[in-house]
Amino acid sequence: MAEELTISAGAKEEKYRELVPQIRSVVECETDMIANMANVASMLHETFGFWWTGFYRVAEGVLVLGPFQGPLACTRIRKGKGVCGTAWERGETVVVPDVDAFPGHIACSSLSRSEIVVPVWKDSEVVAVLDIDSKELGTFDEVDKLFLEEIVTCL
Ligand code: SME
Repeated sequence: MAEELTISAGAKEEKYRELVPQIRSVVECETDMIANMANVASMLHETFGFWWTGFYRVAEGVLVLGPFQGPLACTRIRKGKGVCGTAWERGETVVVPDVDAFPGHIACSSLSRSEIVVPVWKDSEVVAVLDIDSKELGTFDEVDKLFLEEIVTCL
């Protein structure tokens, strides 16, 4: 798994370029967003070997755990709390190279070292976030942000 996470930016971009059409073809056959979140989490997790890959959905004013791959996670996150609640509140992607340097980071797993959270938009509202954790520092960058923001528009 470690070598998967230290792939060069070019190799990572190439993987995303192959993955995006595969995700599109899987998602376009299904209208249920939760089913699509489940397959997107699986495809990202399997392709890149991340530590935790999944979604939190906005439900009754909080983020509630949705489909994911990886170890168990906290189930509810309030707006503005942690990386997920911050991305939701700001309505923008948050890239965290070192989770220990992010005030208020919620440590669902002590092994998580870096993280990216991408809002999922529907009808001008954030309806969910895609959260990905890595066991390595500095895993996520502008390439991940660019492609993950594209991927969540497929849901
Ligand atoms: N670290 C996240 C919590 C969710 S887990 O990483 C799965 C956060 O700070 O919001």
